[in-house]
Amino acid sequence: MVLTKEQQAILDGAEGEVKARVMETVVRYGELFGAQRLVPVTSKYNHLVTSFGLKMMTPVFDLMQQLIDAGAVSGQKFSVDPRPLDKNVPANFLQKLIFNKFMYSKQDSYEAQLKSLGLIDDNAFTCTCYMDEVGNKPQRGEVLSWAESSAVVYANSVLGARCNRNSGIIDIMGSIAGYVPEFGLLTDEGRKATWIVEIKTSKKPEAQLLGSAIGMKVMEEVPYIKGLDKWLGTELDDAACTYLKDFGAATASNGAVGLYHVENLTPDAKELGESLIKEGARVYVIDDAELKRVYDSYPVIWKNADATPKLCFMGCPHMSLEQLKSWTDRLDKALAETGNKKVVIPTVFTSSPAVIAEFEKTDFAAKLKNMGVIVSYICPLMYMNNPLCGKMPVITSSNKLRTYTTARYYTDDEILAQITGGNCK
Ligand code: F3S
Repeated sequence: MVLTKEQQAILDGAEGEVKARVMETVVRYGELFGAQRLVPVTSKYNHLVTSFGLKMMTPVFDLMQQLIDAGAVSGQKFSVDPRPLDKNVPANFLQKLIFNKFMYSKQDSYEAQLKSLGLIDDNAFTCTCYMDEVGNKPQRGEVLSWAESSAVVYANSVLGARCNRNSGIIDIMGSIAGYVPEFGLLTDEGRKATWIVEIKTSKKPEAQLLGSAIGMKVMEEVPYIKGLDKWLGTELDDAACTYLKDFGAATASNGAVGLYHVENLTPDAKELGESLIKEGARVYVIDDAELKRVYDSYPVIWKNADATPKLCFMGCPHMSLEQLKSWTDRLDKALAETGNKKVVIPTVFTSSPAVIAEFEKTDFAAKLKNMGVIVSYICPLMYMNNPLCGKMPVITSSNKLRTYTTARYYTDDEILAQITGGNCK
């Protein structure tokens, strides 16, 4: 790798020993992927994936402390993934004991470290940092040092920023160094599609199911999706962005997609069209039968497949304001039809603290609460990682949560029917 004079000086210790080691980490990381040079991180804010004070992460806490003690903090403030705990989310005595004593016992001290390192504020705990209410929304072409997979794929695809699927810790290293290695999704060539996906469904495909199908097929490659603009339109309005948020998270977790292009909709595809497709790209056709095949292929790993669900999680990734409002309306209508006043399965909607604050200013908030739904800023995955929670029959419309935990996936309509006591297939 060829470094500039400034980069070499940092590596040689001009800004201290700790920063030199940070730079060395970034350089070695780049060399592993064949990067020829480092490029500046240009976004206003960074985003970190590691938000949880898990007891066993002592090396991470030590590393953070070394950075703080050496003053090797980034010029960039940052948001971070959601908190793992919220007392409003139902948990029994034993589950709470495990959360507080054995799992996230370092949460308070870790959050103090995050503040010292440059956390924006308490509202910045969310994976959807790019929502307007949160404010960490990169511009097209900006270079990022993020790692949260659902945020990386959104930033690359919907916002047109440039970021690789980095790992935790590498995200903060790039931000402190001020540089990231140039390879993969940072390059024009790496952003070209090696798959063409043709959507031929008879109705708007479920975002999380479509994302799952594409993720499992293309894995870490870049798909160019045709036919989705028929259902989403050609403008990135709230509804399209919300759809792509959920769709992208499923592509990134069921596969390892870091960037997708939607014809006539996402910024790179709008500007460059089919010139983004590499010669020899393979074709994947998705119709109703293919979506059904993917849905039917999900294993049910509950101990008793017929168990009555004990909890429902919606909002992984965190829900948008529009999603919270539209789900309030949908629930209201569905409950009126079933004659129930409240949801019949304990239900948690998760969203960012900033979006929740906006939601609470509306009449929808009281309505949703009266229907028995809990709104929380938690990360459902962190909740499900508690072995006692993992044993519970939990349902979700998140394909990311399905992939990483024992939670069972249902489509939005099926979830609605289940939690309101209506008929489900
Ligand atoms: Fe966000 Fe946690 Fe899901 S970080 S995408 S709510 S697993």
